[in-house]
Amino acid sequence: MAGQSAVGKGPSRTTADRPLPDRPMTRRPKILVFDSGLGGLTVFAEVLKIRPHADFVYCADDAGFPYGPLSNEDLVARVLFVVQRLIETEAPDMAVIACNTASTLALPPLRARWPHIPFVGTVPAIKPAAQRSRSRMICVLATPGTVARDYTRSLIASFAEDCAVTLVGSGSLASLAEDFMRGAAISDADVAREIAPCFVEGADGARTDAIVLACTHYPLLNDFFERSAPWPVEWIDPAPAIARQADRLLAEKFGADAPSGTGQPERRAIFTSGRQPEPALEAALARYGLTTAKGDAAV
Ligand code: DGL
Repeated sequence: MAGQSAVGKGPSRTTADRPLPDRPMTRRPKILVFDSGLGGLTVFAEVLKIRPHADFVYCADDAGFPYGPLSNEDLVARVLFVVQRLIETEAPDMAVIACNTASTLALPPLRARWPHIPFVGTVPAIKPAAQRSRSRMICVLATPGTVARDYTRSLIASFAEDCAVTLVGSGSLASLAEDFMRGAAISDADVAREIAPCFVEGADGARTDAIVLACTHYPLLNDFFERSAPWPVEWIDPAPAIARQADRLLAEKFGADAPSGTGQPERRAIFTSGRQPEPALEAALARYGLTTAKGDAAV
């Protein structure tokens, strides 16, 4: 009984001794944040605030972007394929699927395939929107894929049964957000056209007062939304809640965030196309604290 023989005999633990379950590990956790593109940066930023001492790899599947129009089968196959490569090459301790379009479909197969890795998903924040709405008129603004999902419908049935819910699937907002991050000029008019169907006024004068940003790309356009909204609404971004959930799960294995390991924590962005980001995007990534390496990881 190896465990018993070590008791009371001083520093005789061997490398075969396992850490006690309630003892935090002393190496840094490595967190993979994954999205079809740059939208997951909105989630990454929140997780980084809570876990500043963790290692991070941010992966944008730009070779597969956009996920919004993909069929269910193609989307699940693509996400499993890329995540498998990332698990093989990066060996993360946790994966944050910072994409509603992927999470609403691919979380069950991901969890089934890698049961030892905690997966944190991003799903439409319908519950908080329903809790906050006074007019009981809310909107879910997402990709066409997310608005079509059974998962989204069942969230509405569970948490917003007494609300009038408008589902708006935008075909171009995620691409506009990508363009914006890459330094291209996008116009208020382009954004206004996409969000116009979110704003509904009932016969009794009641109006939409909460809009769920159910695509992680959309908070990148917050300033455009504020300027283009025909009346003030609450824009619901679930990123802080996702970060809190990631923190809770990490705490079970690694304890609270604290300096650990050697050297500086890693903050790397990789693109599945293997293309080197243009200077404007590189500068944007640097503002998030991320660096890129030439020729890093084509998938
Ligand atoms: N950022 C993704 C989401 O949260 C999707 C964008 C896309 O690839 O269409 O839904």
